[in-house]
Amino acid sequence: MSARFRLALVIAVSLVWRTVQSVAENGDVDDIETILNNARNYNKNAYPTQFIDKPTTVTIQMYIEGMSSFRAQSMDFQVDIYFQEQWLDERLRHNGTRRILIKDPHLFNLIWHPDLYFANARTAEFHHVTSPNFLVWIYPNGTVWYDCRISLTVICMQNLARYPLDSQSCTLRILSYAYDYEQLLITWNGRNPVETNEEIRMPDMRLRHIKPGLRNDTYATGVWSCATAEFHVDREIMHHILQSYVPTSLIVVISWFSFWLDVEAVPGRVSLSITTLLTLATQSSAARMALPQVSSVFP
Ligand SMILES: *[C@@H]1O[C@H](CO)[C@@H](O)[C@H](O)[C@H]1NC(C)=O
Ligand SMILES: *[C@@H]1O[C@H](CO)[C@@H](O)[C@H](O)[C@H]1NC(C)=O
Ligand SMILES: *[C@@H]1O[C@H](CO)[C@@H](O)[C@H](O)[C@H]1NC(C)=O
Repeated sequence: MSARFRLALVIAVSLVWRTVQSVAENGDVDDIETILNNARNYNKNAYPTQFIDKPTTVTIQMYIEGMSSFRAQSMDFQVDIYFQEQWLDERLRHNGTRRILIKDPHLFNLIWHPDLYFANARTAEFHHVTSPNFLVWIYPNGTVWYDCRISLTVICMQNLARYPLDSQSCTLRILSYAYDYEQLLITWNGRNPVETNEEIRMPDMRLRHIKPGLRNDTYATGVWSCATAEFHVDREIMHHILQSYVPTSLIVVISWFSFWLDVEAVPGRVSLSITTLLTLATQSSAARMALPQVSSVFP
């Protein structure tokens, strides 16, 4: 081997080595598996502040992307939300300069998370198109930020005594499944933690506001920290005025025409009253179609 060739080889190798090193220094080389290997004995079931015997605070917020009808028949409503959680897990501190992104549910399952759920949701779904709609960021100081998109059908017991002049308030309850209030406290983020899409329009209801709240709920298994979001909605009355009130009033007015008919014109007066009676019956059964069978008469 000639000396010149050897020199060229050494230069080439050192160039490649330097490039590799600079990539390693500038890029986010740490991935979550390396961090977990460094944090020895990482127990993903132990909450982050277990060793100081204090509850971990999980901060949540959400953005309401869409809402659909408040159904009186099944006593529920549907919402589409972006749900965000944030907590501090000091065991996940890393030396990277930037946050680490996790997009793989399998990797996310390796770290502790507060398993929050929606207590009064009838069904809840994640979105998976085109890839699972969630992301996790781990900041160098150990702050974990989790964001996902969920569709919920929430149970809402409506009080229909004043229908259709009613307003409803429906509460969504969020709590942890596994960690009670001595282990995990939920709080809302900032002063306006529930934001809504300005373009939300519902066919029969108008969203007035959403009020976030916090409380400690007692169950047979213990006390659990619970966040609530109260949805206040007003029923749109215009539809009912046009579809029920105006036609029914007109039919009643038409029934008065029989007073102007000649006293002797019995067949005309009888058929007029029977027609209006039947029309009213049809109207009322059509109005009843959309409603559940409630027994309340007075508010
Ligand atoms: C971060 O850097 C410190 C000091 O250089 C080192 O002791 C520690 O092990 C590093 N941590 C990780 C997760 O690499
Ligand atoms: C951790 O870092 C993030 C982003 O830099 C910052 O927003 C957050 O306040 C920090 N958290 C703590 C506890 O220092
Ligand atoms: C729930 O209990 C915890 C622990 O005692 C307390 O710090 C917190 O303020 C309570 N939350 C509410 C809403 O009362």
